[in-house]
Amino acid sequence: MTQKRKLIAGNWKMNGALQANDALVRAVVAGMQDAACEVAVCVPAPYLAQVQMLKSGSKLELGAQDVSQHASGAYTGEVSAPMLREFGVRYAIVGHSERRQYHGETDALVAEKARAALAHGITPIACVGETLAEREAGQTEEVVKRQLAAVIHVNGHCISEIVVAYEPVWAIGTGRTATPEQAQQVHALLRKQLAAATAQADRVRILHGGSMNAANAASLLAQPDIDGGLIGGASLKAPDFLQIIAAGSR
Ligand code: 13P
Repeated sequence: MTQKRKLIAGNWKMNGALQANDALVRAVVAGMQDAACEVAVCVPAPYLAQVQMLKSGSKLELGAQDVSQHASGAYTGEVSAPMLREFGVRYAIVGHSERRQYHGETDALVAEKARAALAHGITPIACVGETLAEREAGQTEEVVKRQLAAVIHVNGHCISEIVVAYEPVWAIGTGRTATPEQAQQVHALLRKQLAAATAQADRVRILHGGSMNAANAASLLAQPDIDGGLIGGASLKAPDFLQIIAAGSR
């Protein structure tokens, strides 16, 4: 495994307000000055312009939580990759389990969204993860492999440019976290799958997500195939997020 800078990405989900964002981003920017890892916040679309301004001059990167598979046109409610680019967006989450669950996003659609992001210079953070029922049925490997295979199938030629996030659905927002060993096992599988598609699989960052917090981040991030975190709830509190950033800097 080659050493690469970890990526700690916050996913605010549908949270935030102008005033709260201001305080949160200022505190994160001030606290991350010595960070040795890369840091990003994936914010709701209406706040992209605000956070773009707040982060200017810092190393904080901006991310979106979704992106349309289309570049423009009659797609009411959608936001395209070229639009995100105009606001300095560097990352876009695609295929978050909440989008798969509540918006019926399929593996094929997620792959198309990753393609649209890549085509416009945005790095997709492609999420995979099994539900509790799938884990209990022994289907974890099959599910995450199927989800990643779709992204590889459509984006094979530039698959080393993506970021992958393994988020077991049963660990998201539940306070229940995968053990470092459980997580590493799946991350290693995903690495192997990437290695079959590209000689540069070691370059791909595979983030971990699901109730990652200040207390458990260090042990998860110490695993050989965990290259960062995708942080929900704990990314909304500057002190917690900064502790995870510190863990990712070690
Ligand atoms: P929590 O950290 O709140 O469990 O959310 C994880 C997640 O879904 C990040 O994308």
